[in-house]
Amino acid sequence: MKRTTQEIPAALIARQREYCDEIRALSSHLPSPPLACVDTYGCQQNEADSELLRGMLAQMGYGFTQEAEEADIVILNTCAIREHAEQRVLGNVGALVHTKRRHPGQIICVCGCMAQEEHVANRLRESFRHVDLVFGPHALWRFPELLRRVLTRRGRVFETSRSDGAIAEGLPVRRSGTVKAWVSIMYGCNNFCSYCIVPYVRGRERSRDPEMILQEIRELVEAGYRDITLLGQNVNSYGKDLDCGVDFPDLLEAAAAIPGDFLLRFMTSHPKDAGDKLFDVMARCPKVAPHLHLPFQSGSSRVLAAMNRRYTREEYLSKVDALRQRIPDIVLTSDVIVGFPGETDGEFEETLTLIQQVGYDALFTFIYSPRKGTPAASLPDPRTREEKLANFNRLVAEQDRISEEKHRAYVGTVQRCLVDGRDEKGLTARTPGNRLVRLTGGDESLIGQFVRVKITSSNRWSLTGEPAE
Ligand code: 5AD
Ligand code: SF4
Repeated sequence: MKRTTQEIPAALIARQREYCDEIRALSSHLPSPPLACVDTYGCQQNEADSELLRGMLAQMGYGFTQEAEEADIVILNTCAIREHAEQRVLGNVGALVHTKRRHPGQIICVCGCMAQEEHVANRLRESFRHVDLVFGPHALWRFPELLRRVLTRRGRVFETSRSDGAIAEGLPVRRSGTVKAWVSIMYGCNNFCSYCIVPYVRGRERSRDPEMILQEIRELVEAGYRDITLLGQNVNSYGKDLDCGVDFPDLLEAAAAIPGDFLLRFMTSHPKDAGDKLFDVMARCPKVAPHLHLPFQSGSSRVLAAMNRRYTREEYLSKVDALRQRIPDIVLTSDVIVGFPGETDGEFEETLTLIQQVGYDALFTFIYSPRKGTPAASLPDPRTREEKLANFNRLVAEQDRISEEKHRAYVGTVQRCLVDGRDEKGLTARTPGNRLVRLTGGDESLIGQFVRVKITSSNRWSLTGEPAE
């Protein structure tokens, strides 16, 4: 198989594993293992990256804690998608001054998308002098080498140079769950939506070898995982950099042919590339969950063009129709941005009518946040924050009404749900379409099993049900 993107040679990955062993030797004389606290912000890709960080840390001999206070190394795996998230991270990095004062040997590390932004890295360098190690997503696979440099030289290390990115296979992973798992199928994004920072910090699209992905899924199913989400910034671009004739629908169908009782999900799909071939595979493979997360971002074709989304309102709606013709009870979720620069009240109304027309089961709603270096950040933006917030609140209220109505329709039905864990309110499960179900009755032995659940009540966020005979 030929690829046009770069793969890290296995020998270099093996070298990173040796660095892990060297770090382990540094603490082997201690009575108990050193502790790591990994704090993750943002999307599922970051969650998956944190599982790799923990895998490498475990190999280095670290145990884990949720408390920064007691950790020997604190890692903040950050998100750059919106200003608010960045402010929160910087606030939390700032607060670590105090834990480090009480624990002078503590190593503080900032990685992920924010670290890849030049202005953030500069700010960390100049104003957050207690931070020891900063690296962007491109350097994730070199974390052992970078940490070793910090530990052995006690100097600060910054590795944030620009890159198109590469594929690193064979890093150790320590998964957080036992029922659900993430599988990255590709990294980066080539779409350059005009508001979005992701293509600048995560580099160009590159796909993992399909055989590696299928092997990972097989191993997960054998290990008892029941819900597997294929991850990529735009999974529909999968395979474009590989000369192997496998596109995303082919990969999904091959994954669905793996023996075992499990469900496959995927995110995120860009509407411009999601089409009939994908919808046909979803319709004919029972292991592909009846759920599609299909961000529309705006209901106005004028705004969509300014966002560089490369589809119109009508094209989006006709894709939803094509999908619903094949899978009438498909669960649809989406992302939307309110207050893109220059969005008028009339254009916002088009967003409202779009969500009414589609009837999403759930919606992730965001107020536009200017990101330095993106084209939209230099567009005139005359609306006030209050005006945008008023529209945002109207949208949320309308979606709440729709979600409540959608959820009410489940009451009285029996759903085959995966019991995925427990929280303070009791056992939790997911419908095939990924709606949250709170179980009354049942015990922990059900966790990890598909159970028939009779839905007894609902609200706008979740369903309630009991195991059915
Ligand atoms: N401002 C607001 N929301 C954004 N998103 C991405 N970039 C921005 C931004 N600059 C939203 C989009 C995307 C989701 C992950 O985050 O809706 O689909
Ligand atoms: Fe950002 Fe658009 Fe790429 Fe999604 S598809 S990561 S919104 S640039």
